[in-house]
Formats: sequence, structure tokens, C-alpha cells
Amino acid sequence: MTSPAPARISLFVGKGGVGKSTLATATAVRDAASGQRVLIVSTDQAHSTGDVLGIMLAPTGQRTPTRVLSDLDPALIDAGGVLDALALDTLALLEARWVDTAGPLAARFPESDLGDVAPEELSALPGIQEMLGLHEVGELADSGQWDHVVVDCASTADALRMLTLPETFGLYLERAWPRHRRLSGSPDAATAAIVALIERVDAGIRRLGTLLTDRSRVSAHLVLTPERVVAAEASRTLGSLALMGVEVAEIIVNQILVQDDSFEYRNLPAHPAFDWYTERISEQQNVLDDLDATIGDLRL
Ligand SMILES: Nc1ncnc2c1ncn2[C@@H]1O[C@H](COP(=O)(O)OP(=O)(O)OP(=O)(O)O)[C@@H](O)[C@H]1O
Ligand SMILES: [Mg+2]
Repeated sequence: MTSPAPARISLFVGKGGVGKSTLATATAVRDAASGQRVLIVSTDQAHSTGDVLGIMLAPTGQRTPTRVLSDLDPALIDAGGVLDALALDTLALLEARWVDTAGPLAARFPESDLGDVAPEELSALPGIQEMLGLHEVGELADSGQWDHVVVDCASTADALRMLTLPETFGLYLERAWPRHRRLSGSPDAATAAIVALIERVDAGIRRLGTLLTDRSRVSAHLVLTPERVVAAEASRTLGSLALMGVEVAEIIVNQILVQDDSFEYRNLPAHPAFDWYTERISEQQNVLDDLDATIGDLRL
């Protein structure tokens, strides 16, 4: 029997407030309406995917998405389109995964203290929740239940931390406790339990690293608004994604102000709103030109 085909994963990233949740949701709805089986997952702990969809989406650490059909044309749903939504509670995930992992290990190495560690203590480890969120997305995508998994990410800093962690974790681990030393010798029960735990985590993280750079499966969708500060951060994010080897499928400039040429802009009454509008229109053009240059430099 062949295993089910894994889903494509689209990561919506960008600075706070640019429209990631709105555009991730719009993309998910569009693809579901065209007959695909789509799951939208929020890994941002300040979830707003449910608000955009207009439904109650309680954050959960379980793989229990909510079926969202209300806005879709029933004829298209008959064509096989499905839209599910899930808001991941990464602290609840941490608790669930810790019980799954540490329980059996503590039973195997009863002299270790693994069984006494509370999951909340682990949340102090930097990045662990983001990494679990990403791991969960990978597992959901591998389940074969969906064709496309759309991820509504936290704003750039947290999302990039999430995406760089697999690489960073491996580097730190090798420096702190190289694999050949971890696995050599005859350790006591407590050390053996820790080594077994690290090996499990390390293997999972390596798989994540491989998945993230698999261009046939994972792509980033960078959202920005045509403002100088937002575009400057978007350019840095593009550079980071290129360095990580993550495919950038599209750069979406959102919330563009349209210049209405039927309107006479000169000799307007002095009003702050007109000044703001005129400045935004001109800043917008500069930002778009600079962005073109950055994209050219990165040869995207
Ligand atoms: N194209 C658009 N036209 C008008 N309003 C928009 C558009 N895109 C987004 N918005 C509005 O901008 C606000 C922020 O959008 P959204 O929540 O999608 O951004 P976000 O990047 O997910 O924010 P956060 O970083 O807080 O998660 C919302 O009020 C949304 O309705
Ligand atoms: Mg959002």
C-alpha cells in the first residue's frame, strides 16, 4: 500500500499587521473553492485566523481542526473542496508531546529524573514552542488528509526564529555535546535517558530542516505593505529566507493606495488627510522601486 501524498505547505510571513492572516485565509478559501482539500493552521499565539474566517476557533494542542464550509459555494464543495482550520496552542502541544516522549523514556530508565520534569519548565527553553508548532505542521501535512496546508505565521521575528531553529539547534548541539561523544562509553541511567531524549529530538529536528528546504513541498509567501520601514524588514527577510534555502513563492504587497487620476490633487484645501495621502502615494512608488532592486539582487 502506498502512503498518502503529503500536502504542500505555504508559510505566510511578514511584519506585524501587514495582512498575513487576511491573505493566508483568502488563499485557503480560494484553493478550497477550486476543489482542493485545504487546512489553514495558525502558529501565531495571538491567533486571529478564526476572527478572519468569522468563526470560533479555540486554540488547541490536539489535531482536531474545525470544518469551515459556510462561506463556500456548495457546488464547489461537491467538487471535493474542503476547508479546515486549526489554531495551534503550542504550550498545550509541548505538554502533550512531553508526556508522549518522556513517559516511555522515564519508564525505560527509572533511575533518571525525566519523569519528574514538568512540561511548563521546558517552555523556558528558547524556541521550543515554535519548533513544536512547525513540527506539528509537518505532521499534519504528512497525514494525507489535505492537498494544501496554509500556515498563518507569527510576525517576522518569531517566524524566522521558528524557521532557523532546526539549523541552529543542530549546530549548538554538536558544539555543546558532539554526537560521537554522546553515543560513546557506557553511561549511567540518567545520562542514557537524556541521550535517548536528545537523539529523538535531534532526529525530529533534522527531518524538519530537510522539509523546510524541500522546494517541491514548502514555500514562503512574504507579505508587506508599501511603507519604508515595512519594506526594509521585508528585504532583510528575503535575504534570510534565501540564506536558509527556503523557497519564496510570492511577495505580496498589500494595502496599496490607488491613485485616483480623475481627481485634481493640486490646490487642495490644507488638510492633514490630503498631505498623508499624497506622501503615502509617493512613498509607495519609491518602496516598490527599491523592492524591485532587492529582488533583482537576490535573483529570485
Ligand atoms: N487588503 C486589505 N485591505 C483592507 N484591510 C486590510 C487588508 N489586508 C489586511 N487588512 C486589515 O489590516 C488589519 C491587519 O490584518 P491581519 O490581521 O491580516 O494582519 P497580520 O499580518 O496577520 O497581523 P498580525 O501580525 O497581528 O498577525 C486587519 O484589520 C485587516 O482587516
Ligand atoms: Mg495575523
